[in-house]
Amino acid sequence: MSTLRLPFLSSPVFRLAAALLLAGGTTACNQNAKTETNTTTTAKPEAATRPTPAALAKPAGWWKETVVYQLYPRSFQDSNGDGVGDLKGIISRLDYLKSLGVGTVWLNPIYASPNDDNGYDISDYRQIMPESGSMADFDELLKGMHARGIKLVMDLVVNHSSDEHAWFKSARASRTSPYRDYYYWWPAEKGTPPKRYSTFDVKHDAWQYDAPTKSYYLHYFSKKQPDLNWNNPKLRQEVHNIMRYWLDKGIDGFRMDAFQFVAKDPAFPPMPPVTASTFTNAYNHGPHLHDYLKEINREVLSHYNAMTVAEGAGRNTAEAMLFVDPARKELDMTYTFEGTGVGSDADTYKLTDLKRVYTHWDSAFAQKGWQAIDLGNHDQPRMVSKFGDDRPAFRAPSAKLLNTFLLTMRGTPYCYNGDELGMTNSQFTGIADYRDVAARNAYALLKQQGGDEKAFFHNLARFSRDNSRTPFQWDASANAGFTTGTPWIKVNPNYLTLNEASQDKDSASVLNHFRRALALRQQHKVLIHGQYQLLDATNPNIYAYTRTLGSEKVLVVLNFSSVPRTWPLPAGLTPSGKPWLNNYPQAVPGGPAFALQPWQAVVVALR
Ligand code: GLC
Ligand code: CA
Repeated sequence: MSTLRLPFLSSPVFRLAAALLLAGGTTACNQNAKTETNTTTTAKPEAATRPTPAALAKPAGWWKETVVYQLYPRSFQDSNGDGVGDLKGIISRLDYLKSLGVGTVWLNPIYASPNDDNGYDISDYRQIMPESGSMADFDELLKGMHARGIKLVMDLVVNHSSDEHAWFKSARASRTSPYRDYYYWWPAEKGTPPKRYSTFDVKHDAWQYDAPTKSYYLHYFSKKQPDLNWNNPKLRQEVHNIMRYWLDKGIDGFRMDAFQFVAKDPAFPPMPPVTASTFTNAYNHGPHLHDYLKEINREVLSHYNAMTVAEGAGRNTAEAMLFVDPARKELDMTYTFEGTGVGSDADTYKLTDLKRVYTHWDSAFAQKGWQAIDLGNHDQPRMVSKFGDDRPAFRAPSAKLLNTFLLTMRGTPYCYNGDELGMTNSQFTGIADYRDVAARNAYALLKQQGGDEKAFFHNLARFSRDNSRTPFQWDASANAGFTTGTPWIKVNPNYLTLNEASQDKDSASVLNHFRRALALRQQHKVLIHGQYQLLDATNPNIYAYTRTLGSEKVLVVLNFSSVPRTWPLPAGLTPSGKPWLNNYPQAVPGGPAFALQPWQAVVVALR
């Protein structure tokens, strides 16, 4: 029996590969591209003499104490009925963001883009894509966030640009273009280029032949995402200028997309064959990666009080530390794929794996450095469907438990929009429902090669990236209040009962539990900085840990299962008073054992 494996499902997008075909190239041209081409000639202001906007309002290290809300603009709120979420839509929901208590919003890409990969293919780094709105909308959004005490972090996508970026259009037209060296080329007269693997390519071939100059160009992602050549100092300066442009507008930091892949040996020496599952480890941490980061820090970041988070962090905790060791002056934090990757081999997932991974990553940064904590994002299925139990009886308690976990761990929590409501996987059935280039191309490959369709859709239903990209469920009106038009991707039918409006009114809802958990973290520094200690490591159902700061000690007990469990309190731990947080009305007895309801989550101070 041939079952199509969808390895991307088993860890972030870089493992998308095996099942992927590439979307056909689009032909539309970006009219705004000129601005970008001219940027090299723009005089580069002396970084050291620049003002440091908003810096004074932010205490050093503020990014450790913030909670980040990841907002997927395409699916958050549509304002003009075209079915696509936009900046004006977000502006209309600013008071909601404020009501959550989050300190920072990370916005997925809204830059000019032909949207081959939902904005991760940028054709102009200084323009807003028309579907999202205008620069005036952006300015208003930023102002509105700041007025509410919310900081804004933007995606920085500079491992690759779009093939519709003016740089690439010029580069591909002539071997003597001033932008030629912004990208990687392999002239055909040298023969076939040394094999490199692409996650989003039909044949997983990262070299695309380009007839006008009889050369191949490199693309680790889709062929519409040509890789930028970081060996070229001019390219690096362009990136610095782009960063300054947004920081000068007043944004508060960057989430650095796929940054671990930017460094490459331009000689392209032969490498051992790479597969979907070895891609990340094989291609990260190329030569000079940390020189580039140090340069970014020196040239740009050190002049602003901005936070930075890298997507991915190398092969292990030691490599991750290289990004965030404060003495090295590179980035503030990273998020690892190991955490969200747990549970992606669905049939072998065990709670003990989750405990082991999060504990290992915590211990690596216990003395120095800092990390992000997340259980989901726009490349992952919904956390409640993956790590919790999304059946009606358990959805709410398990979503509350997962939010309790995120908000009581050390590290900066990254909460993905909709998870504060306990939104679930999409319930799509046929390929027509899916929008992600990964899913659609995997299906095309299945059709070509043959295979088990039932298993394919079963896998997709569990792990497709589209699971987390369905419209935000605001209320029980048509299309969940997301749009008055036809949404670009189907609304989850459970919006009738699972929506923000009804949860807002219900003090026992997932949403209000999220607000309470977040407020608790803000109130008690022990939940932010306190030392983390895992208890009962081998217990297959209970995840329990303490957090300790000075004389303050807190116990977190999470029943990760759909049946009641008893958990004996380890010797020497004595709860003091009522729990700080409890996702059930039933109190837990303070005796020698906790009697826990399914997915009960309790946070209680210790004597
Ligand atoms: C990151 C993004 C993902 C995108 C990829 C290529 O992994 O999170 O959505 O497809 O980079 O830019
Ligand atoms: Ca719209």
